[in-house]
Amino acid sequence: MKILLLGSGGREHALAWKLTQSKKLTKLYVAPGNAGTSQVAENIDINVNDFQKIEQFIIENAIEMLIVGPEEPLVKGLRNYLQKNKDLEKLIMIAPDENGAKLEGSKDFAKEFMQKNKIPTAQYQTFTAENYTEAIKYIQNHNLPIVLKADGLAAGKGVIIPTDYQTAENTLKMMLLENKFGEASKKVVIEEFLEGIELSMFVLTDGKNYVLLPEAKDYKRIGEGDKGLNTGGMGAISPVPFADNAFIEKVKNQIILPTLEGLKNENIDYQGFIFFGLINVKGNPFVIEYNVRMGDPETEVVIPRIKNDLVEIFEAVGKRKLNEINIEITTQTATTVMLVAGGYPEQYEKGKEMTGFENLENVLAFHAGTTLKNNTILTSGGRVLAVTALGANIKEALEKSNQGANQIQFEGKYFRKDIGFEFLL
Ligand code: AMP
Ligand code: GLY
Repeated sequence: MKILLLGSGGREHALAWKLTQSKKLTKLYVAPGNAGTSQVAENIDINVNDFQKIEQFIIENAIEMLIVGPEEPLVKGLRNYLQKNKDLEKLIMIAPDENGAKLEGSKDFAKEFMQKNKIPTAQYQTFTAENYTEAIKYIQNHNLPIVLKADGLAAGKGVIIPTDYQTAENTLKMMLLENKFGEASKKVVIEEFLEGIELSMFVLTDGKNYVLLPEAKDYKRIGEGDKGLNTGGMGAISPVPFADNAFIEKVKNQIILPTLEGLKNENIDYQGFIFFGLINVKGNPFVIEYNVRMGDPETEVVIPRIKNDLVEIFEAVGKRKLNEINIEITTQTATTVMLVAGGYPEQYEKGKEMTGFENLENVLAFHAGTTLKNNTILTSGGRVLAVTALGANIKEALEKSNQGANQIQFEGKYFRKDIGFEFLL
């Protein structure tokens, strides 16, 4: 099986690492990839949104399977684009189409979908510039904090949670009238703030059947104790201690099954991952958001816990035979700790030389923002390296992750030492 994987983060390095363990793999390309993926696969210099070049590469290299890491090409319709080419009929794509990707690409679509399918989520209403005054009234009539969400993709920055009315109104004005997030904030979802503890659950579906993957919890804030600015994710754990069987059953029955049924009712033939961003409100799960891809850094703890051959699982998606796959998950706990560039998530520098890889023991180092230059590994992003470890429990795994994080050196390196802290008290 010749495979092309799109993306360049820790998520893609973790997927690439797992794919290369498959006997079924003959060749793996990653576009554009990073220094880590170049150690296990061949990096190809193609942008994930350059559909024409992707199509050409697939044809010229007889690629049989395409796996899409990030959301943007999905929301822009990469699957639909490739499906127009009759020569690519047999190409297996781990990638929902444009309509399916709306679950992530439009918060308004996702909310309407959940409402229609009676999936528990925060109460909401959607507004545009035309009904701006009603939006202001809506805010005034609701409790604080209140949640404002740009409808479209906004690189993870589109959700703002003001804690006073003045800020809420100013933010709304910037979003709706002053195009704070451009096209993405032409519509704004205003919703009720839910109080609880968040976790992420993942399924892979072939459009007919699905498999449940291990759940995870990511740590989004830059500072220890969940303080400070939001980031793309500073670390993750899997499994999540409070996600017991009873909770997971609720998620299946109240969220996963109605979502899959809802997609069928909309005639959306969904082949790919669905990421359920959930919040546990007094034992009951609510959907905060859908993503149409795997999470990052969640992938770096989910994938290492899966024992199956990943190529076999993806082949089963293509054949719509996921019902024949028996997912085997290690009972071990995985933790990942993200090394980031000094200053991140605000301004930070790139191009710092990284050393210490030869000292790593008992960890998997998944590259996120790295690049190779004259055989030297340099930082090339804010999130640089995810150090994953497995252990009997969070404490044991985290000790290994933190030890690994200490071994790697680059100027300005920062990482949180307290991933999973609330479960260690
Ligand atoms: P999103 O971009 O949809 O993942 O939202 C970013 C973050 O905002 C989530 O991870 C939550 O921490 C928070 N958030 C979003 N919606 C709500 C809500 N209704 N209640 C509480 N927190 C929320
Ligand atoms: N870690 C959250 C995400 O991938 O969206």
